[in-house]
This record gives sequence, structure tokens and C-alpha cells, in this order.
Amino acid sequence: MALALAAGLFGALPLIAAPVAAQTNRSVNLDVPFVPTPDDVVERMLDMAQVGNQDYVIDLGSGDGRIAIAAVKDRGAKGAMGVDIDPARIAEATNNAKMAGVSDAVEFRQQNLFETDLSQASVITMYLLQRINLKLRPTLLELRPGTRIVSHAFSMDDWKPDAEANVDGRNVYFWIVPAKVDGNWKVQNPGGDFTVDLTQEFQKIAGTATVDGKSVPLSDPKLQGDRIEFGVETAPGKILRYVGRVTGGSIEPLPESQRAGDWRATRG
Ligand SMILES: C[S@@+](CC[C@H](N)C(=O)[O-])C[C@H]1O[C@@H](n2cnc3c(N)ncnc32)[C@H](O)[C@@H]1O
Repeated sequence: MALALAAGLFGALPLIAAPVAAQTNRSVNLDVPFVPTPDDVVERMLDMAQVGNQDYVIDLGSGDGRIAIAAVKDRGAKGAMGVDIDPARIAEATNNAKMAGVSDAVEFRQQNLFETDLSQASVITMYLLQRINLKLRPTLLELRPGTRIVSHAFSMDDWKPDAEANVDGRNVYFWIVPAKVDGNWKVQNPGGDFTVDLTQEFQKIAGTATVDGKSVPLSDPKLQGDRIEFGVETAPGKILRYVGRVTGGSIEPLPESQRAGDWRATRG
């Protein structure tokens, strides 16, 4: 009897729920529900990504638009775009941008974040879910090296953040998309050519330099976006530091390199 009553109630639910769904856009399939990021967390996210006037910011799942609007209004970003799959959120965010006086530089598009072209972004912001972050991760790792990513609350598993913060008990994570550098490199160097063999796990790199047939571990190798830095011990206690910019298949020296201007590396 009780079972029959329960079945009757649940059976009646879709009839009750259907009109409500039409009014509130519950018919839209959300991967993540709308929960706004508090303003102090938005501020910290933009701080961590160092958003400034050279930046174009994309907020994935933009809700009421607060992150994209703050990027332009408070940080002077040259442009921002928010994408949200829910038309009610897009209408709300578009209106908020108008009220904030930034409609000329901020746009909101109703679309699936997984079908969004991210190539124009210098900064990507997200408040999604761990599972969604991980689904996005391969796409994020293919973005231009140096693209900054900041996520409220959710990390990216074994792609460890470059920085993290806690604001009133909420975690914020920050990454810089690393260049792909693993493999063999030939270094042309006035003091003598040598080879470098690099292994890479996201932004973490290690490797060896082989000079005159002798391999030595690279000293304190670092990768940040497209900037690579490593030391080579050329004589006991004598380490030369190489600092360069990775562009596809070559590394060009940067001025802070101890071998500035006179070396370059190409994929071997
Ligand atoms: C947790 S809210 C974050 C809102 C805003 N970014 C913020 O931090 O205040 C997530 C947003 O993602 C949107 N969303 C969910 N699934 C989506 C999808 N597949 N594509 C685009 N937006 C989506 C929801 O409508 C919601 O507004």
C-alpha cells in the first residue's frame, strides 16, 4: 500500500515538474549548477592570473558574468568573454555588463564550454567541478604556452598548480600552460656544441646535457610557459645557465642567459 502510494507520487512528479522546467531553464543540461564566486575570491583569481590591459579573458561557465565583467572593469583587460549554456544566465550577465558600462569590451555567448574556441584567451577562469576540469585538461594543455588558467575550488589532479591560495576557506588554483619540450635538443654554442635530453611532466622538467660524450644532469631546470632555464656544469663547480624562449622546434636565448645571443637550440 505504502509502496503503491510512493509510486503514485513519483509517477505524478514529472507532470508537476514539466511547466516549472520550462520557466527556469531546467530543460538545459548543465554540467555544473550555477553558484556564483564570491567577490573577494574573484579578486584573488584575477590577482593570481595578474590580469592587465594586455589580456583577453574567457570565463568558462560564466553565470551572472561577474568574473568577465571584473576583468575589464577593475583590471582593464582589453576584452573578456563569458560562455554559459543556460540562456537565463546569458541574459543576466549581458544585462550586468550593460549596468557596469563594459558592454563594448565584454561579450557573453550561449554555448557549451566544451565547444568553445579558447585560442584567443590569454587567461581562462573557471568555477566548475573536478571532473569537468579533468575533461577540459587535454584541451587546456594544447593552448598557447604561457596561457594562464585560474580555477576556483577545483584542481587538475596530477597537473599540479603553479600557485594556490585560500580565501575564506575557498581554494584558488593557478597554472601556466607549459611549452612542450620533452625530447632531444641540439645546442649550438660557441664554446662547443652539446645535446640536451629532456623529460617533462606538465611544467616539471628534468634532463641531462651531453658534452664531449660525457652526460651531466641539468642543474635546476625550470619551465614556465615558453620560458626554459637550465644550468650545465662545464667544469667542476662551474655552472653556466641557459635561459631561452621555446618556439615550436627551437629555443632562442633570452638576455638573462649567461650565454645570451650566442647559442640556440633546435630539436634533435
Ligand atoms: C559554478 S557556476 C560559475 C559561475 C561563474 N563562473 C562564477 O564563478 O561566478 C557554473 C556555470 O556553468 C554553467 N554551465 C554548466 N554547464 C555548462 C556547459 N556545458 N557549458 C557552458 N556553461 C555551463 C552553469 O550554467 C553555471 O552558470
